[in-house]
Amino acid sequence: MGFHTLKDVLQEQLEDLHSAEAQLVVALPKMAQAAHHDELRQAFEHHLEETRAHVKRVDEALGELGVSMPTEECRAMKGLIAEGEELMQRGGDPTAKDAALIGAAQRVEHYEIAAYGTARQLAGDCGYDGIKDLMDQTLDEESSADKQLTKIATGGMFKSGVNQRATV
Ligand SMILES: [Fe+2]
Repeated sequence: MGFHTLKDVLQEQLEDLHSAEAQLVVALPKMAQAAHHDELRQAFEHHLEETRAHVKRVDEALGELGVSMPTEECRAMKGLIAEGEELMQRGGDPTAKDAALIGAAQRVEHYEIAAYGTARQLAGDCGYDGIKDLMDQTLDEESSADKQLTKIATGGMFKSGVNQRATV
């Protein structure tokens, strides 16, 4: 499909996001299972529920554009998830592994934040206020998830001895 109008770009962005979110619904339970610290596991479980709603919002937005069967595959999300899975398969200190998991999850959140920022702007430019509202709601939740991960990472979890042990 060529890009002839901003609506074409919006549709492509939404199709990509649909694939990205659907892949995350599958990946997040594995990340929750791999998390060692309760707070991190709960953050992933909470974000899984939000992510299910994100898929529905993107579906609704695509519906407004008359797209019922998005076919695009988000290869960027596929790669981010593959990297996360590689990290999860490594052995080592549970807290250090959680730090690696947080790094992988924040890459995902920042990718989504960028994508939703683009989609909300395009929706506004094209006069699709309903879609813009949906994108804003999800963007808020992605930003909160990212902040929550930062809070967990900086809240003392990594001061539990892993660095001292790593130096011996
Ligand atoms: Fe999401």
